[in-house]
Amino acid sequence: IKRIGVLTSGGDAPGMNAAIRAVVRAGFYYNLEMYGIYRGYEGMIQDDIKKLESKNIAHVLERGGTFLKSARSSEFRTPEGRKKAYNNLVKHGIDALVIIGGDGSLTGAHLFYNEFGIPSIGLPGTIDNDLAGTDLTIGFDTACNTAIEAIDKIRDTATSHDRLFFVEVMGRDAGFIAINAGIGSAAAATLIPEKKMPIERLVERLKARTKAMKSSNIVIVAEGGKSGGAVEIAEKIKKELPYYDIKVTILGHLQRGGAPSSLDRVLASKLGVFAVEGLMQGKYDVMAGIINNKVVFTPISKAIVGHKEVDEDDFRIAKILST
Ligand code: F6P
Repeated sequence: IKRIGVLTSGGDAPGMNAAIRAVVRAGFYYNLEMYGIYRGYEGMIQDDIKKLESKNIAHVLERGGTFLKSARSSEFRTPEGRKKAYNNLVKHGIDALVIIGGDGSLTGAHLFYNEFGIPSIGLPGTIDNDLAGTDLTIGFDTACNTAIEAIDKIRDTATSHDRLFFVEVMGRDAGFIAINAGIGSAAAATLIPEKKMPIERLVERLKARTKAMKSSNIVIVAEGGKSGGAVEIAEKIKKELPYYDIKVTILGHLQRGGAPSSLDRVLASKLGVFAVEGLMQGKYDVMAGIINNKVVFTPISKAIVGHKEVDEDDFRIAKILST
C-alpha cells in the first residue's frame, strides 16, 4: 500500500476531524501518501480528490463537523456510479481506503470492496452508536453531552413553570442517545425505537409523578420512537392529562455539531491509527472498533447486520430511576 484515500460519509459526527487527522498523521508516519476524498462517495464519483499535506490537518482535531465534508450519495448506490468512483481512484493511484461513517456508509464500503477489491477499512463515525463491533462510535459521547446539557437547561424552565416537556433526540432506528440522555438527565420516561411503550403506561407514570409532587417532568423521545415523535406523543398525552402545561422541544441537528468531547477525540485518534496499521497488515473489508479498551477488527458485513440495540440493563436502569 502506497497511497490511502480517506473520506467521511453520511451524517457527520463530532470527532470525524480527529479521526481524519489520525489517519493522515499515521499515514505520514509510515511514509504513505495520503489523499482526501471530499464529500464522501459523491466526491469520489465527481473526482473531488486532493493530496493532503500536514497543513491540511493542522487545528482540525478540536473542531466539530468534517473538513472533508460529507454527503449521502444516491449515485453510489448504482453500479455505474461505483464504477465511476473506482476509475477516479485508479486515476489518482489510490490503492487503499479509509471510510469514516455510519451503517449506510459502511454498507457502501462493503459493496465497493466486493466489486473492486480495493483494500479498505471502515471507522465507526456516527452519533447513533448503533454499529456492532465497537463499544462506542465516534461522535456518540459528544452528542449525548450536548443533549444532556440542553435538557438541563430545559429542566430549569420546566421547573419554574411546573411544565411537562417532551424532548426529541436523534436516533431513527436506535435509542442510544435517548437512553443515555434519559439516565443522565433524570427523565420521567424515555421512549426508544427498540421498545414500544403504550401511551396508557406513560399516562400512569406521569400521574404517579404528579401525586409524588414532582415539579417538572421531562420525557425523552427518540425521533424513531415506535409510538411516534415528540409532537405526536405530546398531542396524545394532552388529551389524557389536560391539566398539564405541555411543551415540545426538538433538539435535532444541534446534536451533530460542536467540539468533540475528550472521549471522542481519543477514540477517533486511536481508531485512525489502527485503521492505517490494519490496512498495512492486510486487514480488509473490516471495521476498526474498540471493545473493552482493545482494538477489534470486525468484518463490515457483521458490523452492519441489523444494528446494535440498547442494552436491556440500560433500559431497566432508566425505568427504575424514573419511577
Ligand atoms: O445517522 C445520524 C443521524 O443524525 C440520525 O440520528 C438522524 O436520524 C439522521 O442522521 C438525520 O439525517 P440528516 O442529517 O440527513 O437529516
